[in-house]
Amino acid sequence: MPSNISSSPGAVDHTTRASLKNQQPVAIWLTGLSGTGKSTIANALEIALVKWKRHTYLLDGDNLRLGLCRDLGFSDSDREENIRRAAEVAHLFVDAGLIVITAFISPFRHDRAMARKIIGTDRFIEVFVDTPLAECERRDPKGLYSKARAGLIKNFTGIDSAYEPPVSPDIRIDTLVDDLPTAVGRILAYLGEEEHQ
Ligand code: PPS
Repeated sequence: MPSNISSSPGAVDHTTRASLKNQQPVAIWLTGLSGTGKSTIANALEIALVKWKRHTYLLDGDNLRLGLCRDLGFSDSDREENIRRAAEVAHLFVDAGLIVITAFISPFRHDRAMARKIIGTDRFIEVFVDTPLAECERRDPKGLYSKARAGLIKNFTGIDSAYEPPVSPDIRIDTLVDDLPTAVGRILAYLGEEEHQ
């Protein structure tokens, strides 16, 4: 902690805030290569939760990089700072009683462990959106893999920057097998929301 600064406990804690919303505040942390469908799953999950009157917030890598993280690139250290900021924001929203869904590549185990620590181990659900690199390249929805292969983008995850898959994710979604409703259903079931499907 920086010197001469101490954390100030609030008079209302997150349990009290969450009780107003009748929901369990958590961060659902989606990780996976570019092009796996993290944003698609995150959006479909949020629609399903909102339909059941859950108060949610979605944090997406591309969107955060247009604002809060606009000064950051894709070096290992910039990615670490990107994930640190994302985790701090997610922590605030979870503390406010919301169900937060995040969609960041978050390629490094060390950074995901940091995010878990910032948000709180019991409020962090790691979801590995698992798609083989070859399939992501085949889909290439933004044309970024072909640019990376042509050397037009440096430090591209899976090409010249590493992706470290989770060792024991809370949920693993195999996008070659699980279609979108199945993927969303798996996460809802984990949250105990399966009766709403
Ligand atoms: S990270 O690694 O978690 O900090 O990345 P993230 O904030 O999720 O941003 C990923 C999106 O940025 C685009 N993009 C790149 N991705 C990976 N490597 C490089 N070099 C890169 N340059 C731009 C890309 O659109 C990613 O979005 P998704 O949705 O994952 O495809």
